[in-house]
Amino acid sequence: MTTASSDAFVFFGATGDLAYKKIFPALQALICAGELDLPIIGMARADWTLDRLRERARDSLDNNGGLDVDAFAKLSVQLQYVNGDYADSATYQRLKQTLGAATRPLHYLAIPPSMFGAVVQGLAQAGCAGDARIIVEKPFGRDLASAQALNRTLHEVFPESAVFRIDHYLGKEATQNLLYFRFANAFLEPIWNRNYVDSVQITMAEDFGVQGRGAFYEEVGTLRDVVQNHMLQVIALLAMDAPAGRDTEYVRAEKLRLFRAMRPLNPACLVRGQFRGYRDEKGVAADSQVETFAALCLHIDTWRWSGVPFYIRAGKCLPITATEVRVNMKCPPLAIFDEISAATANYFRFRLSPSVTISAGARVKQHGEQMRGEPVELIARHEPRSETLPYERLLRDALRGDPSLFTRDDSVEAAWRVIEPVLTNVAPVQEYEPGSWGPPAAAGIVVSNEGWHDPKPEETAPC
Ligand code: BG6
Repeated sequence: MTTASSDAFVFFGATGDLAYKKIFPALQALICAGELDLPIIGMARADWTLDRLRERARDSLDNNGGLDVDAFAKLSVQLQYVNGDYADSATYQRLKQTLGAATRPLHYLAIPPSMFGAVVQGLAQAGCAGDARIIVEKPFGRDLASAQALNRTLHEVFPESAVFRIDHYLGKEATQNLLYFRFANAFLEPIWNRNYVDSVQITMAEDFGVQGRGAFYEEVGTLRDVVQNHMLQVIALLAMDAPAGRDTEYVRAEKLRLFRAMRPLNPACLVRGQFRGYRDEKGVAADSQVETFAALCLHIDTWRWSGVPFYIRAGKCLPITATEVRVNMKCPPLAIFDEISAATANYFRFRLSPSVTISAGARVKQHGEQMRGEPVELIARHEPRSETLPYERLLRDALRGDPSLFTRDDSVEAAWRVIEPVLTNVAPVQEYEPGSWGPPAAAGIVVSNEGWHDPKPEETAPC
């Protein structure tokens, strides 16, 4: 396996949705940064011309962040198009020819996993896999068995060190800051455990529905779409032990230990919801049982976290678009001033999206004669959205062969093990009103009387 940078970028599914929404904007950003001086080859089955793909790229950029005229001109020159059936060896011969002198391509499979086998074999037989790397998208499999099968399929041709599994949440600035904030500061460690932390809540709310992706969503549902990957990855960064050092493999080792300590989910601690109107979406079955909302409680059986509930709530058509983590601390041991309740306890709040905030919730005395308090937040970081696109960062890393922000085979399988018990519609799906916080039963998931903390709209202030 090479450690040199890739010398060509090949993306399968070039005419598809992911290329349109994420890949073209990331390529443009890399070109703007002067970091993509190599052949860019779009692969797809459609009988398109190169000009039609260029037009698609233009449209994608116009609608996803804006077109940069100079960068687009370069992209148009570098872009090539190879079309053909993924099961036909002639397709890969054409790719080989188009690659020319490039020997270390990065292949991005923005295609359904059912095609991975044909594509990796086609690449190998045509001699396009030797020193290559490969990127695959989440969700990686549908359950543990299919994830294991996909890993075997990829490993027939590519060693694990050449496989880059994308979870774009790991490419977000705020997610990386979780890891940084925890281990670049010493004050958290003494209290970051079951002795001081009462519970943890993570809410990933979106105020929109499935946005025309009904057929895709029918295959996944919330648990597979965002819980098995994004949410569990966030918990891993929040809850893992300190890595022995900065090295990628140290971090990955601690994350794996954490995933393995997560208790497989208990169906009794899960509420699944479906927003009213979902079944009218194109591509959705009239009697669909797929969830667009999930609320659940997870336990981590380690000395650090034993007995601390980790609550996760994620859904479409909720009142706001925001992803927020809240670490609720235990109450003071005695009530000297204010009455003690979960509502007055300290907390840490990490707003991961769309704005980026880290804050500590505390109490200060109100002005006046009485020793009465009020809540304040000490904002550690609060900045407007100027972050690097997650896909830009991840593509850059994969081109350089840096696996830090990608998920390893064993971690993906360990994460599937956690949600495996709830993947078969074990909890009935309950309808909820669009714009609400999910089915009323979701309130029952949080056992203490504090309930769910709903993320609030947040002002973005200059740094
Ligand atoms: C994707 C899911 O992985 O993440 C989508 O498939 C979801 O359903 C999206 O909307 C959210 O990501 P972000 O970065 O927009 O918060």
